Amino acid sequence: MSDTNFNRETAFSLLSEYVKSESLIRHALTVEAVMQHFAEKFNEDEEKWGIVGLLHDIDFEMYPDEHCFKTRTILEPRNLPEEYIRAIESHGYKLVNEVEPITNMEKVLYTIDELTGLISATALMRPSKSVLDLTVKSVKKKWKQSSFAAGVNRAVIEEGANMLGMSLEEVMEETILAMRKVADEIDLHGSVA
Ligand SMILES: [Fe+2]
Ligand SMILES: [Fe+2]
Repeated sequence: MSDTNFNRETAFSLLSEYVKSESLIRHALTVEAVMQHFAEKFNEDEEKWGIVGLLHDIDFEMYPDEHCFKTRTILEPRNLPEEYIRAIESHGYKLVNEVEPITNMEKVLYTIDELTGLISATALMRPSKSVLDLTVKSVKKKWKQSSFAAGVNRAVIEEGANMLGMSLEEVMEETILAMRKVADEIDLHGSVA
């Protein structure tokens, strides 16, 4: 159990109040799944990490110009613990704020947020349109093409992997494995049987 009254269900309904875009909901579900996967790997609280992943972009749709700054305004009155709020804010490190990722939970969020975008885009380029048969090698190939999914900030992903003391390949591998678990929910099952 997490150290809060918040659970997955209440977190999702809160997210639904602020996010209507289907693609942003899909992104939230993706990041949730990857956070849970890494929590399991690091023997940490899966529900807590999942909630942080689910809520990390809660202010983006309504306040795109104040992304990561409205997080606290929205979540503090809902009594989301400080640890969660800080973790969410830290995914804006060096991009919009100076909240440095310190804990493993923060470092993973920082690393995988943009990476999930690259992996999704790579999967959708494939004939199968699936994450189920996607390899690290394919993602690495697209990683090197800076014009592909140009909005994906490779430097952030690289810095995040360094913070975690993991290789880029290892982070990619784990993120793909996590995304496979929710392939249906995030529309990346594709045509793989
Ligand atoms: Fe974000
Ligand atoms: Fe995000």
